[in-house]
Amino acid sequence: MMAQPAPSSAPAPVPRHIAIIMDGNGRWAKQRSRPRTFGHSEGVEALRRTVEAAGELGVRYLTVFGFSTENWRRPIEEVNALFDLLRLYVARDLDRLVKEGVRVHVIGSREGLQPDLARIIADAEAKTRHNDKQHLVIAFNYGGQDEIARAARRIAEDVAAGKLAPGEVTIERFETYLDTAGLPPPDLLIRTSGELRLSNFMLWQAAYTELVFSDILWPDFDKAALQAAIDAYQRRERRFGGAEPERP
Ligand code: IPE
Ligand code: IPE
Ligand code: MG
Repeated sequence: MMAQPAPSSAPAPVPRHIAIIMDGNGRWAKQRSRPRTFGHSEGVEALRRTVEAAGELGVRYLTVFGFSTENWRRPIEEVNALFDLLRLYVARDLDRLVKEGVRVHVIGSREGLQPDLARIIADAEAKTRHNDKQHLVIAFNYGGQDEIARAARRIAEDVAAGKLAPGEVTIERFETYLDTAGLPPPDLLIRTSGELRLSNFMLWQAAYTELVFSDILWPDFDKAALQAAIDAYQRRERRFGGAEPERP
């Protein structure tokens, strides 16, 4: 009989980077016979709780999917309500994030965003630029395919301008053109509301991310739900294509 591997005495690490597809706001509101936008505003409360919980649990990077490049297909009133919630979140929380050492990054296309929203985003990034304790990455007007296409376009421009040789376009170089340049890839990706798909989220970055799907609707998400996802992650064996499990 084969010997059992010795149980590792080192505690399983907390994921350095967790990415979340915050889904289920509409269904949460529908269950309460309320408009979808009510679900979105309660979703912001869940976001506040989750940012705080991530800090308490020692998760250094948290990325949240707030608005996808495909969410423009929704009724304009709902799109505007989602934009207003980003405005409100920054207006209410930025000072606290600055004080608590949270650096804010916003990934996604700025194309199509109202000028004031682009200004609010730039301001949040600038005011938290020197923070490094915790990182909050907000994916807004974000699509993985769009991000990769924009990176490819900029690489093509640099090649055409003679700044870059085609042979220099490696995986590492490509990553410097992505919106997430300088950020580590997510270790754990959580999607709430029971849907089992990526919906164009972090297509490049999720190459070796562990996936956890939860039936909880986003407005009900809390520290216990985050802890449960981390527990599931800690029971996983990451191999990165190798023959033996790896502890990052
Ligand atoms: C997630 O909740 C929030 C965004 C996509 C902005 P949904 O609005 O997708 O809620 P469901 O999936 O319809 O329940
Ligand atoms: C993904 O959720 C986008 C965000 C959470 C912001 P969706 O609700 O838009 O995804 P689909 O349409 O169900 O795939
Ligand atoms: Mg949804």
